[in-house]
This record gives sequence, C-alpha cells and structure tokens, in this order.
Amino acid sequence: MATLIIDRFDGKKHYEQSYTLAPEDMAGKTVLNTLLFIKQTQDPTLNFTASCRCAICGACGVRVNGHAILACDTKMDDLVKTYGSDTFRISPLANFKVISDLVVDWEPAVENLRKIHPGMVAKSEFSEKEGCRQTQAEFDRIKKQWDCIICGCCASECNKLTADNRDYMEPFVYTHAWRVANDSRTKDPLVHGKPAVSGGLWNCVHCQECANRCPKGISSADDIAAMRALVMSKGLTDGVGPAHAKAFYTDLVEDSGRLNEVRLALRTEGVSTLARTGMAITLLRQGKMDPLEVFGGETIEGHDALVKMIEAAHAAAKE
Ligand code: FES
Repeated sequence: MATLIIDRFDGKKHYEQSYTLAPEDMAGKTVLNTLLFIKQTQDPTLNFTASCRCAICGACGVRVNGHAILACDTKMDDLVKTYGSDTFRISPLANFKVISDLVVDWEPAVENLRKIHPGMVAKSEFSEKEGCRQTQAEFDRIKKQWDCIICGCCASECNKLTADNRDYMEPFVYTHAWRVANDSRTKDPLVHGKPAVSGGLWNCVHCQECANRCPKGISSADDIAAMRALVMSKGLTDGVGPAHAKAFYTDLVEDSGRLNEVRLALRTEGVSTLARTGMAITLLRQGKMDPLEVFGGETIEGHDALVKMIEAAHAAAKE
C-alpha cells in the first residue's frame, strides 16, 4: 500500500491528512490523476487546481517531498523510483499564500508580472500592412522563454523569496521581462528592464534552484543575469548591484585575476563597507581574511588566457 500525506488548509488551520492507496490505484497514474482519484473515491473536500492536464496551462504545480513539480506531468511510478519509497508528502507551492489545501493565491505574482509589461510595445516603424514580423532567427533567440507556462515551480523553489519576498519578484517574472525586452520587435527594452530593476533584479542570490526545478528547462537565473547585462548596457548602472558586477570585472580582468573580497567590498559599497567593520574584525581573527589583500596580490597564472576568454564571451553575447 502507498501513503499520500497531504498538507491541508481549511481557511483557519493547517493540518496534514493521510490517504492510503492500493498499488493498482496509482499504477500508471500521474500525481494529478491520483489526486483526482482520491477526490472521487475518498475525500470530495480535497482542493487543488488543474486545467489542461497536459503540461500546458501551468495550473497544477504542487510540491512532492518539498520539491515543486507539475502534477499532470509527473508519474507516481517515477516518484516511487526516484525516492525508493511509496510514502509521499504533497504540499502547496511554497512562497505563495495558501488559500485552501493545495490551492494558492496567484494575484500578487500576477501583479508583479503586470509591472514588467509582458505584452510587447512594438517599434513604430512597423506598417499596418506588413504587420509586426520577425525572422526565424530573431524568434529563436526568445523561443525558450516563450515556453514558460507560469506554473510557479521556480517561485516555489526560490531561496531569495523564502528569505525575504519584499524586494524580489517571482523568477518567471524576470524571464518574461527578458523575453519581451529581447524581442526584435520591441520598441524600448527599458520599458521592461526598469521595472525589473526596481522589482529586485539585482537581488537574486544565484542559488540556481529556479533552473533546477523548471519543468520546461528554462533558467530564470540565466535570464536574470542576461537582463542585468542588458540594463547596464542601456545605462542603468546606479546602485550596489551594477557596482558589484563592475568590481568583479575589474578584479578578474584589469587586476590580478583573483577575486579580492576586501577590494570587492570597497569597490561595491565604498566607505559604507565600514558599517561591516565588526564582521571584518571577526573574519580577521578567524584567519578568514588577509588585510593585505586590499593592496592586491600576484597575478594568477594564465591571466592572459582568462582575459581572452572573458573577451570572447563578451563578443559572443553581442552576436
Ligand atoms: S493541468 Fe495544465 S499544466 Fe498541469
């Protein structure tokens, strides 16, 4: 027998409920079909959302054993193989407010999506007769991001949102900002880039969990990095984030090729770094930081090759 422990919420209290299934009740079924089976045969009060049942609409995101999945695109048999167990915990997506059982409130995330203007504002030179065309190559550049079905799996896994969601948006929001800003027909990428910056573009912590769990293989982390480069190239260079990116570049290319934590902090935050003197003293005492690092160090072996590699990456990004 298999056991599904489902995290439930009745509007007032959170509790868990276990459902027992015979092997034939879930053999060959998806997680969504298994939830439907429970609803139809054991508990009509169980709430969850789904629509297309074929990994297109993005409505059925839930967590199994703490990891976000599309319920309609995940087989129970595969879960048994992955976890080597037939007991699973099914929970609502994390980093969303729970409305009922596995149903979460999407309105704040949709509001964030509205902020970055996901609909294209086309260049004025397109004629009414010709329409708003683009070449296959231009479309290919953004087609991966078009695959995003806004299921929320990336947001559920996002460590930044878990730590503090007040200065950050859901990772898929930045993916859509990148997609529309890089559409060859878009009039002004900054229409999408500016709200992405004010919505926390520079606050991504690079944990890569969004990329790990996206059911469509999209890396919002990469899109965030590319969007940062785009907004900097368009002149949005104020703030700690751009300063940190520039300091990284200076350390690697113009200086020794070593990331020098002391100079990196000074170049990024200037004198306000002094506010963290206490932490610096602790690091010094523990032998984790060398004060002489502020004067730099020997250039690393192979520095020329590193510079060439970075320049080649720059050139490739411009193509
Ligand atoms: S029900 Fe539409 S993506 Fe799963």
